[in-house]
Amino acid sequence: MNQKPSVTQDQRRAETSTPESRGDEMKDDRTRRHFLVAATVTTGLVGAGSAIYPFAASFRPSAKARAIGSPVTVDLTRLEAGQQVTVVWRGRPIWILLRTPDMLERLNEAHWRDQLRDPDSTVETQQPPYAKNATRSIRPEYLVVTALCTHLGCVPSFHPEVASEDFGEDWLGGYFCPCHGSRFDLAGRVTKNVPAPTNLIVPPHRYLNPDFLEIGVDTV
Ligand code: FES
Repeated sequence: MNQKPSVTQDQRRAETSTPESRGDEMKDDRTRRHFLVAATVTTGLVGAGSAIYPFAASFRPSAKARAIGSPVTVDLTRLEAGQQVTVVWRGRPIWILLRTPDMLERLNEAHWRDQLRDPDSTVETQQPPYAKNATRSIRPEYLVVTALCTHLGCVPSFHPEVASEDFGEDWLGGYFCPCHGSRFDLAGRVTKNVPAPTNLIVPPHRYLNPDFLEIGVDTV
C-alpha cells in the first residue's frame, strides 16, 4: 500500500486548521512527547504489573479509534491484587491499579492526609463527581487515573512500597514524578510542597460488568 509522505499530511493539516485547533494540536503533541519520552521508564515502572504489560498493550485501540477518541475496554480478570496496568486512551496513558486492602487502609491514615494538598478532592476539574470520594474511584479497589503529572505532563513512576529508602519513612506507596519531584499517593492525590498543583486526573469511566471496565464513558 502506498504511504503518502508526511510532509503532505502536515501541509493538509496546516491548510485546514484554525489558530485554536493548532493550539490544541501543539498541546496534544506535547502530551504525546512527554508520554513517549517517559515510555521506557513507564514500562519498567509498572512494577508488579510489568509482567502483564503485553496484556495492556493488547488493549490499545486502532489508530482510527484513537483519532476519534473511542472508549477503551479493559478486561480486569487478569489483574492481580497490587498490580497496575497501563492502557492508552485519546493518546494519553491511563493507569488501572488493583489496590490491596492494605493499600486502601493506608489512604486514610491521619498523618498521611496531613501531607496532602487536596485530600478530599475538592478541585472539581480533577475527577468526575462519582470519583470524588475517599478512594477517588467507583469501586474502592480499582484506581483509574491519567498517568500524566499535573505540573508539566511527565509520566510519574509507580512506587507501591512502604517506607522506602528513596522516599523516607513516611512514604505509604504512590507515584513519583522524576521531572521535578512531585509525589502522589495511591489515589493520585498530590502531596504538599511539590510543583504539581493538583491531584492526578481521573478520566471518565464506567464498569460494563464486574469484569470489564470502559474508559472514556461516564458512569450515569
Ligand atoms: S512534570 Fe512532574 S514535577 Fe514537573
